[in-house]
Amino acid sequence: MRFHVLTLFPDMVKDCLETSILGRAQEKGCVSFHTVNIRDFTEDKHKKVDDYTYGGGAGMLMQAQPVYDAWKSVREKAFSDCSERKRIRTIYVTPQGIPFTQKLARELASEEELILLCGHYEGIDERVLEETVTDYVSIGDYVLTGGELPAMVIIDAVSRLVPGVLHNEESAETESFHNNLLEYPQYSRPEVWHGKRVPDVLLSGDHKKIEEWRLKQSRERTRERRPDLYLTYEKDQGAISNLYRQKLLHMDMIQVLGRGTGKLLHMDEDGCAVRDLMTGTIFLTAEEHTAKPLLSHIQNAVTENLERGKLLAVHQAELAAAVREKYDGYCFTEQICRLFVYTKDVPLKPAHHIVFRELTENDLPVVAEHYHDDVVDDIAYLKDRLRKKSMLGAFLEEKLVGFIGMHGEGSIGLLHVLSDWRRKGVGAALEAEMINRLLREGRTPYCYVREENEASAGLQEKLGLYPAKGRVHWLCGSRR
Ligand code: ADE
Repeated sequence: MRFHVLTLFPDMVKDCLETSILGRAQEKGCVSFHTVNIRDFTEDKHKKVDDYTYGGGAGMLMQAQPVYDAWKSVREKAFSDCSERKRIRTIYVTPQGIPFTQKLARELASEEELILLCGHYEGIDERVLEETVTDYVSIGDYVLTGGELPAMVIIDAVSRLVPGVLHNEESAETESFHNNLLEYPQYSRPEVWHGKRVPDVLLSGDHKKIEEWRLKQSRERTRERRPDLYLTYEKDQGAISNLYRQKLLHMDMIQVLGRGTGKLLHMDEDGCAVRDLMTGTIFLTAEEHTAKPLLSHIQNAVTENLERGKLLAVHQAELAAAVREKYDGYCFTEQICRLFVYTKDVPLKPAHHIVFRELTENDLPVVAEHYHDDVVDDIAYLKDRLRKKSMLGAFLEEKLVGFIGMHGEGSIGLLHVLSDWRRKGVGAALEAEMINRLLREGRTPYCYVREENEASAGLQEKLGLYPAKGRVHWLCGSRR
């Protein structure tokens, strides 16, 4: 992931980002930081970048021209290095922005490029903000002297969620704010300190009991210290228990909410809508008679998705029809899938004769040569999956014979076995390996199978996954 920081004080930013974990992550190539001195772009012969404000008032304002040209130079650079000319998120850090949260950090971590614009003096000319900024973000209700510290706070919080930045991937999963709960208390040696004993359960070696104790502590701590967060947690839990009434059909939504990577957009007797923050996909479910009311509750979110080319995962045919009817200014592509869920917690038998290895960006040519899908932009998507360490290769005699992956929203997919190796159990072995890895992370494995793909449905049943009764309609809209 690459961060571009537009600033009048590039040294301040560089010094900070080259130190400690972020410096190491940059050396490893997981993230890169590119600072741009806005002053280098001024057309003023005295290198001035600020001027008085129209209408009077104290202080100076950063002018539009140097900011715009600095931003344009970054956008051009990002475009030339990128396979597609998509919109690059530009964040203006300002006390007037939306609060920066762990959820937003997670959402931003799924971007490939991010521009951060740091203001100074009294701010920046409004006209250039209108033309460049996609997100206004504040790090808290207080005013700092400039945008560099907030930009660095955001970069730090986002970077540590990029795969490979932290040594222990697990620590980004279990800590404070995961799932809207604060972290439980932790203890290290000695067992007794100042007369205080480490809680007995932590010494018991009973992992189930330890997990239960930690969850209880997290909940109590959150309720006491952050009642606002606890309310969100309770709402998500309420939605999860409602979704459990049709567990198989809703397993995707349950998992997204349960992992803390989903934002509950709506939940009541009209239905439920969840946005997956990793991909932007909105998952929707409603009864036939509540399809229209549900859509009216989440009108803006759906419009935003259609405008941004993000997907809708609609869990009923009637609801999909209601989407088409309501948004008749768009034409839709649709993929109808069955959801298969691995509901047990027993691992599958591993294939010892096959070596499994996480694939990297170096494997892109071979993966792209073999994997094709008519919906996703293959190369950019595969590159993203590889960068996020979400693909697994199967090797026989050191030769890649097949691969599988995790989609951005958390389902298993991207399965392909090279033609010479078909009908030898490689596909089943790959999926079993992926399922076992997910079980070790405490997740419930599931995948979508296109309605017409009988072979894949057969494989799922052979591996012990259960099909949901309904269908998931994946919709992507574009303006007519
Ligand atoms: N710039 C100045 N103060 C700020 C804050 N609290 N958040 C983001 N940017 C800022």
